[in-house]
Amino acid sequence: MAAARGEFSSRFGFLMAASGSAVGLGNIWGFPTNTASNGGAAFLFTYLILAFALGYPALMAELIIGRHTRSNAVAALNSISTGRKSQILAMGIGLVGIVTVSLILSFYAIVSGWMMAFFLDPLARILGLTGFSEWLTTDTELRNAIFVVIFMVFTVLIITAGVKDGIEKWATRLMPSLIGILVLLILYVFTLEGAMDGLRAYLVPDFSRVTDPQLLINAMGQAFFSLSLGVGTMLVYGSYISKDENLPVVGALVALLDVGIAVLAGLLILPAMYVALASGVEIFDDTGGLIAGPGLIVSVLPALFNNMGAIGILVALAFFSLMTIASLTSSISMLEVPVAYSVENRGMPRPKAAIIIGIIITFTSLLIVFNFDPLFDWVVNFTTERSQPLLSLFICVFAAWIWRRNEILDEIRHGSPEAEHGLFWKIWPFYVKFICPIAILAVYFQ
Ligand code: TRP
Repeated sequence: MAAARGEFSSRFGFLMAASGSAVGLGNIWGFPTNTASNGGAAFLFTYLILAFALGYPALMAELIIGRHTRSNAVAALNSISTGRKSQILAMGIGLVGIVTVSLILSFYAIVSGWMMAFFLDPLARILGLTGFSEWLTTDTELRNAIFVVIFMVFTVLIITAGVKDGIEKWATRLMPSLIGILVLLILYVFTLEGAMDGLRAYLVPDFSRVTDPQLLINAMGQAFFSLSLGVGTMLVYGSYISKDENLPVVGALVALLDVGIAVLAGLLILPAMYVALASGVEIFDDTGGLIAGPGLIVSVLPALFNNMGAIGILVALAFFSLMTIASLTSSISMLEVPVAYSVENRGMPRPKAAIIIGIIITFTSLLIVFNFDPLFDWVVNFTTERSQPLLSLFICVFAAWIWRRNEILDEIRHGSPEAEHGLFWKIWPFYVKFICPIAILAVYFQ
């Protein structure tokens, strides 16, 4: 049967791993552009409320179930089931979660591959390899395919090494570097002409937008994607937390780090876009909105870096290393979901599971690369707009309606003996029972 389970060796290790999962392209790319195109600080404000009022309770549901059951999502939901029907539901949610997270990884790897290519580009230019630099920055199927494979190899290697020597070790190295690079880049961009206009676009609220249903949908989708919810990622990371940890506190720290880094990323991206504007780069699309899609990262910002002269090469290097790090600490958390299941439920050795599943996901990714036009958008929308919110909803239903309440309290009491009298226990059960499901459904049917 399964080998001994891994465990994070410290609170810091868990925080870096879980916030590494949460902080990804969704924060550095998705959040700032969503903010800019949804009424600036009005979106920021709505997002902050939703992240703490809905995202945090849903995150806690996953962490508590994970740590209590000490197993992957399928086995975990199964073991808190109370009858035949809920067991079937558990199986369904767990398996759909595994398929969903694998599909998320298959499109995430493509975008992460672009980030790696753009990271190598400044190095190629320093070495005078103009032809290679041209190849790296031109969108071709061949380049995309090669970088998908390279990115997936890194992801598989880290997962093969396990929880402590793989996930924790790399997250504790990479996350502090990410924060350092982000802060340095912000400080530098603030010194450039146009940055303050970007800051205004980011922070001046247009409150007439707060009641716009589209803004609410975007803010909630952003919150669930950013906190990596629904597909069992946080559940499985929760299963590696020590019993001595105070769960409501570490969960809150993860949510704070995730939101904090998203807000910081906005201080970089929006000012950088307006600096680009000041130096003659087009930053608005045909409809007058800010360019937010792939164009932002692979054309607007590189054009800005090119205009900066010699220092632009360093800035590009810093920026794309930031993006690559953010991608990698997220992608490992995605691959861990199917790998933990195969190791624990199917008795596979970890390296074998990581390699086989890694190959399957790489092939799916390549299928998308070579049929980019219909497939990419379809997979992104299906997984993030359809599947993920519904799965989150079901996990909340499991935690609040199916699982026995006193077992939940017992679990939280590990590491937080006074939990019963605390604020968390007064509010959270009500939230996961009623508010989260209703809010998710309401937004879903918009
Ligand atoms: N949260 C990450 C981001 O913001 C992406 C991510 C990691 C994710 N694991 C996930 C998204 C699981 C959904 C499900 O980019």
